[in-house]
Amino acid sequence: MADVYVEDGIIVAVNPNFRVGDDVTVIDATGKYVLPGGIDPHTHLDMDVGFTATVDDFFSGQAAALAGGTTMHIDFVIPLNGSLTAGFDDYEKKAKKSCMDYGFHMAITKWDETVSREMELMVKEKGINSFKFFMAYKGILMINDELLLKGFKKCKSLGAVAMVHAENGDAVYEGQQKMIELGITGPEGHALSRPAVLEGEATARAIRLADFVNTPLYVVHVMSIDAMEEIAKARKSGQRVIGEPIASGLALDESWLWHPDFDIAAKYVMSPPIRKRGHDKALQAALSTGVLQLVGTDHCAFNSTQKARGIDDFRKMPNGVNGIEERMHLVWDIMVESGQISVTDYVRITSTECAKIFNIYPRKGAILPGSDADIIILNPNSSFEMSAKSHHSRLDTNVYEGRRGKGKIEVTIVGGRVVWENNELKVTPGTGRYIQMPPYSYLFDGLDKKDAIYLNSLQAPVKRAKAST
Ligand code: URP
Ligand code: ZN
Ligand code: ZN
Ligand code: ZN
Repeated sequence: MADVYVEDGIIVAVNPNFRVGDDVTVIDATGKYVLPGGIDPHTHLDMDVGFTATVDDFFSGQAAALAGGTTMHIDFVIPLNGSLTAGFDDYEKKAKKSCMDYGFHMAITKWDETVSREMELMVKEKGINSFKFFMAYKGILMINDELLLKGFKKCKSLGAVAMVHAENGDAVYEGQQKMIELGITGPEGHALSRPAVLEGEATARAIRLADFVNTPLYVVHVMSIDAMEEIAKARKSGQRVIGEPIASGLALDESWLWHPDFDIAAKYVMSPPIRKRGHDKALQAALSTGVLQLVGTDHCAFNSTQKARGIDDFRKMPNGVNGIEERMHLVWDIMVESGQISVTDYVRITSTECAKIFNIYPRKGAILPGSDADIIILNPNSSFEMSAKSHHSRLDTNVYEGRRGKGKIEVTIVGGRVVWENNELKVTPGTGRYIQMPPYSYLFDGLDKKDAIYLNSLQAPVKRAKAST
């Protein structure tokens, strides 16, 4: 047990019985947990999908995050025309209204010399140390294996983490055609068209290609046993593979997609799809045993009107579910309150591990002298309730509608400012900062040794006499 003293947004001291003068604000956390604020490694705020954009922008999405104990997030810059520089500039502008710190991953959706050079610029000058490759969304974002290999090699040369959205996009396309031919046009068709085997296949392929290149791989939104087992196998063999389950995959099952009310079913449409019951429990177990390392949300908020675009054809529906505000409570409830993990593990999977992977530890993800004062107070004896009526996202729906549980985040402090207390949010646009993330996180430690062993193992070419015919 200790007191935490904060000055000018930085943690200055952590020790028992710290004495302060009357001019210092004191928050009594007796009987509660004082923890590092959550870091959400996977969000989509103000994301333009061509025909519409997510309802949560960098202000509303972050306000929601803060009300739920998340004090930093890493968003995906998805450059619509493929230009990384233009994409970065666009997101830099969108993020000006931020009320908490944020970082960026960047998606690579095509390949040429310009993209390759721009990746270098992003890492060396813009503070990006991770790139996402889409193995699905054929004809829109998907890249083939040749480009995946080129991208992985480039990531390795820059000390950047390669990330994949792992679903076999060609097979998903086939699956979708089949559903439409069968007349299955509703939200259930979304799940039926892209089964877990397709996630398992792409995960296995990405893992093997990353092994071939000898570069770390981060699998985003792990939704199935199929994908998780591939990650388990690779990690057992010593490969640097990180698996990120997301809140919806841990907490929900696909049955909602069969709900007779279209509006209800539609809110659960995301990719890869939420799976059958059983996958959720298996992902939780994998998280508790260290097979999977950290939890994101893939928060990607489209309201009922936007979802209704797909009323006659699930392929036209914008994909995504909420979670940025719910993640910290869900993980506490599902993992800690249930007895599956300790409070220490909770901090690791919701905050510290993310900071380490993206190389911003211990500035983030820790309560240590010198760390940013991003702190939450969680009361294990108080309860939370989730609803579109009370949440802070702009979404008119919530995939966790009516969910209750024990363990409530009562206070959120971001950059030394108390922004969430007594169920009240006090946030100011423009107070969040862009956090540059340097390359070569711990995932790269010792990788060159494996390269050297490989080179040594190669034998000199076999000398053969010239064929004489
Ligand atoms: O359905 C989802 N996940 N939408 C967001 C984009 C992505 O693939 O992460
Ligand atoms: Zn994705
Ligand atoms: Zn995503
Ligand atoms: Zn409120």
